[in-house]
Amino acid sequence: MAQDENGGHELTPASSSAVDVHRTGDPGTAVIIRDAVENPGFPPHRPRVTDLDPRKERRAERTVYTLFYLSIAGSVWAVAAYMAFPINDSDPGSVRLNNLFIGLGIALALLAIGIGAVHWGKALMHEKEGVDLRHSVRGSEQTTARAAEIFRQADEESGFNRRVLIRNSLIGALIAFPLPGVILFRGLAPQGVDPAELLSQTMWAKGVRLTRDPSGTPIKASDVTLGSAFHVIPEGLNDAPDMLEQKAKAAVLLMRLKPEDLHVSKGRENWNYDGIVAYSKICTHVGCPVALYEQQTHHLLCPCHQSQFDITHEAQVIFGPAKRPLPQLPITVDADGYLVARSDFHEPVGPSFWERH
Ligand code: FES
Repeated sequence: MAQDENGGHELTPASSSAVDVHRTGDPGTAVIIRDAVENPGFPPHRPRVTDLDPRKERRAERTVYTLFYLSIAGSVWAVAAYMAFPINDSDPGSVRLNNLFIGLGIALALLAIGIGAVHWGKALMHEKEGVDLRHSVRGSEQTTARAAEIFRQADEESGFNRRVLIRNSLIGALIAFPLPGVILFRGLAPQGVDPAELLSQTMWAKGVRLTRDPSGTPIKASDVTLGSAFHVIPEGLNDAPDMLEQKAKAAVLLMRLKPEDLHVSKGRENWNYDGIVAYSKICTHVGCPVALYEQQTHHLLCPCHQSQFDITHEAQVIFGPAKRPLPQLPITVDADGYLVARSDFHEPVGPSFWERH
């Protein structure tokens, strides 16, 4: 054991046979490993066939730029396949064809770039081995100049500027490769309509009956007893071609409270029917279904991040990350006593978005 001269603490090396503990001018210790593995150095340099035979070098060059051009062809193929094999909602086979041909194009584009770059590096770029010793991160002027020199040298050795066909075909391949992604993402957005407008409208309109989810059975006002809650969809939703998209906007919760418990603001006096109120089920935080109703407190709870809405106060947020109340659906009854909407919602449902006023 060694004695610390400064503090008098004992210093214990991990293993006296494997390491030595040396005192230095600085506080602390330096551990020197006795049986460190010898650096074996580099294996002897063996020139490649492309270093020895100019014809093989030219062949390798042709292979590399052909691969980059193949990559461009793959990207163009993917874009063409997107247009030539559109997805038809009523034909599951069209999804398979669409995925297959777009996938083949993207795979070819990516593989060809990758293989071309590796082949360029292995067969044509300068293969001189070098050792970079670790040094401090801060760079001096000499370091900067040396870095610029290294870049120049790399350019010279890789032939990036000299081999114009390879360079240009690589740039072309890298530019073409993201195109299928751009086209695919654009395809996710609704076509021919303003997305903001689409989010602002639901299937609810004047006279549309409120029906049970999922059966679509109309609901009479007399069915809604005090304290009960119904999951509601608009009549005809189950027959809509874009049923899921419409349901994601139009789902509603229906509850009955004592009319005297409701605090109704000006302009909303006729939005409830004898204490029956309907609110959007889509949370205004990030759009989860608000599915839990506390009968005693008249609170609606969103299970995703625990936002709570007070139904007695027009679904104001009383807890959680949601920033605005659940939109209310104005309702009344028709001549047969069934609950119907007075109109669509007066504001967009769900999470706030950039078009919101
Ligand atoms: S989605 Fe409802 S609280 Fe987050």
